[in-house]
Amino acid sequence: MKLAIHHAKTSFSDRWISYCDQKNIAYKIVNAFDNDIILQIKDCDVLMWHYSHGIYKDVIAAKKILFALEHAGIKVFPNFNTAWHFDDKVAQKYLLEAIGAPIVTSYIFYDKKEALDWANQTTYPKVFKLKGGAGSANVRLVKTKSECLKIINKAFGKGFNQFDGKAYFLDTIIKYKSGTKSLKQVVKSFGRMFVSTEYAKLASPEKGYAYFQEFIPNNNSDIRVIIVGNKAFGLKRMVRNGDFRASGSGTINYKVEEIDVKCVEIAFQVNKILKSQSIAFDFIFDKNQKPLIVEISYAYSSIAYDKCEGYWTEDLQFYKVKFIPQTWMIEDIINELTLNE
Ligand SMILES: Nc1ncnc2c1ncn2[C@@H]1O[C@H](COP(=O)(O)OP(=O)(O)O)[C@@H](O)[C@H]1O
Ligand SMILES: [Mg+2]
Repeated sequence: MKLAIHHAKTSFSDRWISYCDQKNIAYKIVNAFDNDIILQIKDCDVLMWHYSHGIYKDVIAAKKILFALEHAGIKVFPNFNTAWHFDDKVAQKYLLEAIGAPIVTSYIFYDKKEALDWANQTTYPKVFKLKGGAGSANVRLVKTKSECLKIINKAFGKGFNQFDGKAYFLDTIIKYKSGTKSLKQVVKSFGRMFVSTEYAKLASPEKGYAYFQEFIPNNNSDIRVIIVGNKAFGLKRMVRNGDFRASGSGTINYKVEEIDVKCVEIAFQVNKILKSQSIAFDFIFDKNQKPLIVEISYAYSSIAYDKCEGYWTEDLQFYKVKFIPQTWMIEDIINELTLNE
């Protein structure tokens, strides 16, 4: 048995590689962008690639390569069930609705007139989101009808850039004030108003659809629960000062008592149907304290979860120990291989 690992900076691959070294698991490092990648992994049973929504070539290539291999019977991480909806909140809306998961009510329009008709008769505020993006960058509150009409016109006109330099700068100032970003980062973010990210230079504008959600008020945080195989871990992210958005705020609470175990239970239940190898669920709470899923994602930062106090198993038993979820990803895929032998 041999694994192929696509190695990339600040991805899961560092930890996959050290685990393989430690456990004497045979592996080879590959560059998935090589033209002959399929040939290169002919002697392997698995391809593992923590691809990123923020790297343009990952976005255009990763799913094709991974799913082609999976189609041909090779084990991959992330596989189709885990990743087909990655970084696509509209895809997630359909999937979560289809399986009856508890979600925030949402509205998708592919037709300008229908969107305008809806905007003219609905209530406010609503939340507008692009289908992709992380750290709350492409999520905003729509307070009035006139604001909503403007957004719809833009969505069906010139569209939205994937990266908004001004919003990024303003967000960095807020984080500087709350102590999660340095002055150097503020200066750098100022430059981002004039020089966009490599990703945004290549990506085409987002247009031809408009996606809204009901605004769920009075949440000073969101809860993220991640499932890898049959274990779960989580944390609470506080919203930015004077804002409703938690994701990317950098203010994190790791205390296990802060995590409503209802969220862990729902995450396990929903993933029984989704069958993801790795999946993060972001929850907010309605007025009856019922957890609602806002987003799912197979990928996340490696280091952000190192401070978690422990993990839950499916019986909701909590184990207060340190753990490295990237090692579970490898163990799970090896177990699957041995089962199939
Ligand atoms: N419908 C909503 N009502 C209230 N708050 C929301 C809603 N959707 C998202 N949020 C808040 O905004 C944050 C970012 O939204 P999310 O859809 O998870 O985008 P991102 O992909 O950028 O993390 C969430 O962490 C949550 O705190
Ligand atoms: Mg999120």
